[in-house]
Amino acid sequence: MSKKYFITTYGCQLNVHESEKLAGVLKEDGYEPAQNIKDADIIIFNTCAIREGAEDRVFGNVGALKKLKKENRDKIIAVCGCMTQQKEKANKLYEMFPFVDIVFGTSNLYKFKEFLNKSTKRLLAYDENFNLIGEDMPFYRTSGENAWVNIMQGCNNFCTYCIVPYVRGRERSRKSDDILKEVKEAVNQGYKKITLLGQNVNSYGQDCGEISFSELLKKVCKIQGDFKVTFMTSHPKDLTSDVIDVIAENEKILKEIHLPVQSGSNKILEKMNRKYTVEKYLSIIDEIKKKIPNVRITTDIIVGFPGETEEDFNQTCELIKKVGYDGIFAFMYSVREGTVAEKMPNQVSFDEKNKRVNAILKLEKEIKKGKNNGNN
Ligand code: 5AD
Ligand code: SF4
Repeated sequence: MSKKYFITTYGCQLNVHESEKLAGVLKEDGYEPAQNIKDADIIIFNTCAIREGAEDRVFGNVGALKKLKKENRDKIIAVCGCMTQQKEKANKLYEMFPFVDIVFGTSNLYKFKEFLNKSTKRLLAYDENFNLIGEDMPFYRTSGENAWVNIMQGCNNFCTYCIVPYVRGRERSRKSDDILKEVKEAVNQGYKKITLLGQNVNSYGQDCGEISFSELLKKVCKIQGDFKVTFMTSHPKDLTSDVIDVIAENEKILKEIHLPVQSGSNKILEKMNRKYTVEKYLSIIDEIKKKIPNVRITTDIIVGFPGETEEDFNQTCELIKKVGYDGIFAFMYSVREGTVAEKMPNQVSFDEKNKRVNAILKLEKEIKKGKNNGNN
């Protein structure tokens, strides 16, 4: 009987795709997916660090594995991902849970095969060097008709609330030839949707003199076959007209765009280090709507960033109404250790954040209702 694996993934699509890479390595090693966690010979938690809640869940769920390990000492338990890319968190987890066998961060993903075949009893691998992308890792796709294709890693923006630049390193674009080869293979295998992934896709290529993101999109669209293309995530400061034109002109590209605004207050945007104003953001939205009829626009909003007053929040609500989003992901600001915002004064209370997040959900429903009734 073949050995079995069970992977639990937290967080974003990038993590989902990295779990596909872990699964690829396991498959090559003779493992098959387990139907449930109890049947698995190896259990992996691929973690997220974006908000405190995601990390708390990991601590709780990893703790619950103690019983399974007691029943079967040969079970391998591994914890990896963004949370364990933070040195203190990796150490804490490793010390708190002696039944966890392998702990490693995102920078060490490419070493997973080596870790799997390790001879030492326990292993904590921490590395601050992000140079290796894991280009040669096999993957086992698990998202139905959709194939995730990573085009770049990391982020250079340092939005003051965000942990990503610390746990994913600086922007590193993959070679366009490698990306196009991967897309061709996925299309030939019958995948109907290609989602190009990166923390900041619009700055693709800028770190290494590669072609621009709009040129990459054009090349992807030239690939023969019956498939659609989409991408995430875009930063408003880097979304240029040439990208909007390519989306408008190419039938293969889905008419949807996720453009996180985070706040509708210029004061807060500046404190967030987002490098655009509300006026600039709205002018991009205007251009998108003019050039791409019936486009679906979605966004991310953070409520309760330090110093956000009732007035700032009202401005966010005004912006939401102006854009008339088709979907909103609203988050309560969560303090992340080591970020600039961690040290900012005037942190907003939980109750206030909760109130504001609920107000946004209500607004989103009203917009949806309005759209269903035929208003735009
Ligand atoms: N607190 C709350 N939300 C955050 N995000 C990123 N960092 C934080 C944080 N510290 C949100 C942003 C981003 C999305 C992926 O997660 O809205 O766009
Ligand atoms: Fe975080 Fe900002 Fe980079 Fe997005 S662009 S990953 S919010 S630092």
